[in-house]
Amino acid sequence: MNKLTIRDIDIAGKRVFVRVDFNVPLDEKTGVITDDGRIRAALPTLKYLLEQKTRIILCSHMGRPDGKVVESQRLTGVAKRLSQIVNQPVDMAGDCVGPEVEQCVANMKPGEILMLENVRFHPEEEEGVPFFAQALARLGDIYVNDAFAVSHRCHASIVGITNYLPAVAGMLLEKELDTLGRIIEDPAHPFAALVGGAKVGDKVDLLENILKKVDFVLVGGGMAATFLKAESYEIGKSIVENDHLQVAAGLMNRAKNNGARFILPLDVVVTEEIKPDAKATVVPVNNIQPNQRIVDIGPETIKEFTKTLRGCETVFWNGPMGIFEIPQFSEGTRTMANTIAALKGTTVIGGGSTAEIVASLNLADKMSLVSTGGGASLQFLGGQKLPGVEALLDKDSPVAEKLKVRR
Ligand code: 3PG
Repeated sequence: MNKLTIRDIDIAGKRVFVRVDFNVPLDEKTGVITDDGRIRAALPTLKYLLEQKTRIILCSHMGRPDGKVVESQRLTGVAKRLSQIVNQPVDMAGDCVGPEVEQCVANMKPGEILMLENVRFHPEEEEGVPFFAQALARLGDIYVNDAFAVSHRCHASIVGITNYLPAVAGMLLEKELDTLGRIIEDPAHPFAALVGGAKVGDKVDLLENILKKVDFVLVGGGMAATFLKAESYEIGKSIVENDHLQVAAGLMNRAKNNGARFILPLDVVVTEEIKPDAKATVVPVNNIQPNQRIVDIGPETIKEFTKTLRGCETVFWNGPMGIFEIPQFSEGTRTMANTIAALKGTTVIGGGSTAEIVASLNLADKMSLVSTGGGASLQFLGGQKLPGVEALLDKDSPVAEKLKVRR
């Protein structure tokens, strides 16, 4: 990565404004954090900044409150959880900009942490309004982006603020970009991409870009229906993206031309109705009935996918193989997670629901990288630039020279 990082610059004792992505999943009823992986992922950066005796001002969003204060999307619970993890107090500000917050920052001592309130409570954040970015910038001397998961957004706290403060990468951002960059630029072979989830439409760019690099593409999840239909299978009541049938056929053709094997399910789990006590039936893909809907990959497919993955040096996985929330439709996803966790090579998990599943199975530590970014990792692996990364200082920029630590 050619961007300046916190370790490259003289940061000791400074007020450091750190944009993190603590947009963690919450239990719908209790509001309790169900997966604190995104908070823990920021720890390397936070530990380093604490060692450097900086004053840490943390800025995050939570959900999509649409520019209004939404009580259930306050960051108080996040600050509390962070405080337990770092074993020191984390003060909670009443807002993310304004004189009171500026006073809180002015009162901070080296080694203290202040959590700002949800930055998306202000509409100016998502609109990227310059005066709002300036108001955020007044809180720090240095800006650190450690929010890979939101770096595909042109928001004030991601891009705008870099116009007013020297802007560098945090360690999480660096790790994500290095690991994801390596699997796209120079992966160890054989390399397999395992893709699932609901829609082909969400993953076309990723598939197009990754096809040039992989030896295998394994397809499961709801999106397998569109690929099977493109191969003229009857897929019953499964949801097909008719506008992506040609795209799916084109991807399979291009894979063949590139020497990659596109492996579709051989058998699937089907049901007539999606409900918690639904009956699961296994059928070969050429025997799906009009009243049936695909809800998981079948045992033969699991065997084939497992065999392929075990022979790989690099595996990238994004998207569940079935409806993971319903136990009788979760076997495919569960087995893929365990198979990947047991591999010796590089294993990279795309963010979003795949990351949540891996965390719920306690397998996150067994993977080389569980990306914190859903949309961001898809965009990056799809070959697009992330504005939040582009906005950071290059290692060889003239300003960078002045900020660098002399070692
Ligand atoms: C995510 O959960 O993918 C990130 O926090 C970005 O959230 P957003 O899609 O609401 O911008």
